Amino acid sequence: MEANRILSGQKTTIFTVMSALAVEHGAINLGQGFPDGEGPEDLRAAAAGYIMSGPNQYPPMAGMPALRQAVAQHDRRFYGIDADWQTEILVTSGATEALTASFMGLLNPGDDVVLIEPVYDSYRPIIETMGAQVRTVRLEPPQWSLPIDDLAAAFSPKTKLLVLNTPLNPIGKVFSRQELQVIAELVVENDAYVICDEVYEHLVFQGHQHIPIMTLPGMDDRCARIGSAGKTFSVTGWKVGYVTARPDMLTAIAKAHQFITFATPPALQLAVADGLAKDDRYYQDLACSLQERRNFLSAGLSDMGFDVLPCHGTYFLTADFRALGFDGDDMDFCRHITTQAGVAAVPISAFYGDPKQAPNNFVRFCFCKEKTVLADAIDRLRRHFS
Ligand SMILES: Cc1ncc(COP(=O)(O)O)c(C=O)c1O
Repeated sequence: MEANRILSGQKTTIFTVMSALAVEHGAINLGQGFPDGEGPEDLRAAAAGYIMSGPNQYPPMAGMPALRQAVAQHDRRFYGIDADWQTEILVTSGATEALTASFMGLLNPGDDVVLIEPVYDSYRPIIETMGAQVRTVRLEPPQWSLPIDDLAAAFSPKTKLLVLNTPLNPIGKVFSRQELQVIAELVVENDAYVICDEVYEHLVFQGHQHIPIMTLPGMDDRCARIGSAGKTFSVTGWKVGYVTARPDMLTAIAKAHQFITFATPPALQLAVADGLAKDDRYYQDLACSLQERRNFLSAGLSDMGFDVLPCHGTYFLTADFRALGFDGDDMDFCRHITTQAGVAAVPISAFYGDPKQAPNNFVRFCFCKEKTVLADAIDRLRRHFS
């Protein structure tokens, strides 16, 4: 049997590979991006209560009304986006499903999609499975600034979508208003649309601000804005995501969603609805506590000779390891520190369509871990490299 050519050609993701290696060698896993706690206790208690009280049967395809209302309220509260919860909000099984449903619902064979590298790994296989073609634009380290001419050149009459991930995994870049303005102008000029992967919207640090490109002039009906409760409430296993888009776009996305998962566990949806209504303090504390851990890991890595790049959002730090004198590429380095120092990270080249053409001297460390775990990781690396 010949399986799907695009999907069967995909390798196991680098996160799975490095996590397995971390388990095998008893390494601290700073590779895969998940918090090591269990998430807010009140949210978990609420979810447990909703499981007991129900409903436990199929919820509405578009999502529980309480969560759709809460997402609309959240978008208004944080960004001034005015969305009708009945026609402009869709609940999905994580942002992953929201992305897949967006690509399936909007793309036709022959369409082009612009991606900005380094890029999250789930976009390309689905886009290509739909028969669409990827055009990439690269941010250049160490500033990771947007190459405007390259971006303009990536657009053509075939361009249907651009995928914009801000704050950007893996490099922690938060796109500025000026950069968003440039992207928005190109999108409007080329009559294209934007899939806005904003799962790290609340993980933004001092001096920076998350701006949904949907709020820029001319962009309101060209954007599908995607959020994730997994990231906002540190419960990555719940897989509750949400999409905000004007009715034309949302209807197309929902057409795919109805055949992918149809719905998402209702108790989790209701608990997330409670979560989104949390006061400003919750959101500030989340960013503050991550910022503290970013600073802690960054100082530890810098002290031992890593060249740590700025990180303005997400829970990932990128570090250049060349100054440590390691002779090998980023994949070799990740294997080396996992097996020899007992700390796992992931290579940045894995976030490029062609890793051989990618920068090969950066690795990504995840810092959404207990401070004691980060301290232990720093200690292990310091002992190994000293
Ligand atoms: C950029 C980006 N988009 C989407 C996702 C997937 O989010 P979810 O767990 O809600 O499916 C992740 C998870 O790591 C991510 O980093």
